[in-house]
Amino acid sequence: MTMEAQPIGIVRPLGQDTTFKGSQYGVVPPAVAHFESGYEAMTGAFTVADGSKSYGPVELEVGRLWYALTMLHRPSMVVETGTHAGYSTACIAAALKLLGGKRKLYSIDPMPLPQLWSGSDVSPVIEQIRMRSQDALPFIKTRLNNEPIDMLVLDSDHHYETIHAEFAMYEPLVRDGGLILLHDSIFFDGVGHLVNQVRQSDRFEVVTLDSPRRHDPPTARCPGITLVRKIRSGDVWPPFDEKARGLFVGDPNSPALVRR
Ligand SMILES: C[S@@+](CC[C@H](N)C(=O)[O-])C[C@H]1O[C@@H](n2cnc3c(N)ncnc32)[C@H](O)[C@@H]1O
Repeated sequence: MTMEAQPIGIVRPLGQDTTFKGSQYGVVPPAVAHFESGYEAMTGAFTVADGSKSYGPVELEVGRLWYALTMLHRPSMVVETGTHAGYSTACIAAALKLLGGKRKLYSIDPMPLPQLWSGSDVSPVIEQIRMRSQDALPFIKTRLNNEPIDMLVLDSDHHYETIHAEFAMYEPLVRDGGLILLHDSIFFDGVGHLVNQVRQSDRFEVVTLDSPRRHDPPTARCPGITLVRKIRSGDVWPPFDEKARGLFVGDPNSPALVRR
């Protein structure tokens, strides 16, 4: 029997090829760069046009991490829930645009807000779906046309019922080796409980990290992020936990549910 040389440490090839230049890495549309210039690193708030502080988008560091993970993972097909004004969407789309080729980001949110990416060169990469994530599955399936999702980003309503429905509906469409990114898994017990359930399955690798946004007092919980890598497909997971119905924001001064 002849043994073929196996690449060491590589369990799957990177996604579609790309020819981007190093000097282009990290560039975002001008409106997104302007939005980032209002970021306050000590609190994780964005100062917006009317001078108020916004905590709606993911922190700048998280937006840029989503950008970096997109560059690393090279997805062709991305689905996001929770578009808001489009900060995370624009970060991911900027990376998809730089990677080039045939790539698409479907971002789902029923709320009609002006979008940061409007009129920019990343617009063609994005299709916005103005629906609740719970209602958008048939639409997404049509758009995917049997292609798998390479990267799923969940950041919509953080009630347990919603995040559970999103995971149960969209995770089966993620390919083996695909990524699932979640924001607010520390601050919100609804998301934290779902992550604790996901961790119980050997179908996933899971890590939860602190994120920089700070509330008052500064010892209170931060939003947090969870990175999930799907190892393999299997039965729909996790089961709905009736005891967790209604879980939403946790007590910010108590230890995070996801770390208990
Ligand atoms: C925390 S914000 C998302 C922030 C965004 N990812 C960013 O970085 O700018 C949550 C968004 O989820 C949306 N949302 C709430 N319920 C939803 C649902 N069932 N399906 C999809 N989006 C939902 C809200 O309208 C809101 O815009």
